Amino acid sequence: MRGIRRAVNIPVTVKIRSGWDEDSRNAVEIARMVEAEGASMLAVHGRTRVQMYRGVADWDLVAMIRDAIDIPVVGSGDVMLPGQAIDRLAAGLCDGVMIGRAAMENPWIFAQIRAVHDGRPVPVPDADECIDALRIFRDGLRETRDDRGFIGRFRGLACRFVKGMRGGAAARRAIGAASDVTAVEAIFADFVREASRPESARESSRAVA
Ligand SMILES: Cc1cc2nc3c(=O)[nH]c(=O)nc-3n(C[C@H](O)[C@H](O)[C@H](O)COP(=O)(O)O)c2cc1C
Repeated sequence: MRGIRRAVNIPVTVKIRSGWDEDSRNAVEIARMVEAEGASMLAVHGRTRVQMYRGVADWDLVAMIRDAIDIPVVGSGDVMLPGQAIDRLAAGLCDGVMIGRAAMENPWIFAQIRAVHDGRPVPVPDADECIDALRIFRDGLRETRDDRGFIGRFRGLACRFVKGMRGGAAARRAIGAASDVTAVEAIFADFVREASRPESARESSRAVA
């Protein structure tokens, strides 16, 4: 931390978990050290390293750390819906919310949080926006994966996208069996176009509250 601070002229932020395992939940201690070494902001995912994604994220710990230090604390873990972000902020558990997996399923979650916060109607993407967003994921993935790793990961992203939508299970099976990018995109496009037709949209769109 000290070395990084010396090496750069930009704010340095840090992200930690609650500890390595149940016997070493030392996040409060680490948070104090990080602050003392001049970090500008701290993000906390309230699970241990050993836990990976098992169990639930400990937001009481996030709040405890926020009380223990003076730099802004961003909470992370299990925020899947806009209302959950608003609730955590309103309860004073954190200064900001970090969203990982839900943003992969629903990249509009940030605009939706803003809308809920401002008391505006929650924007729900139409089929074309969903298709465009999957293309953005595709192009980003191409920059980071070689050909062999690409298609499996792309299928995974497309599956995440349809998660939580009515009929999504069948679409996920079809995407899982698709052999190339064009096939994945065609299945995905058919699915979101069908899901966003007025007669099915009300039932099929994911929960946003
Ligand atoms: C695809 C992906 C990549 C991630 N990469 C990092 C990373 O490089 N560094 C890190 O500290 N956390 C990383 N995380 C963890 C997230 O920042 C977050 O703490 C965790 O997923 C819990 O939040 P969530 O329930 O909103 O997903 C990653 C998560 C995902 C899903």
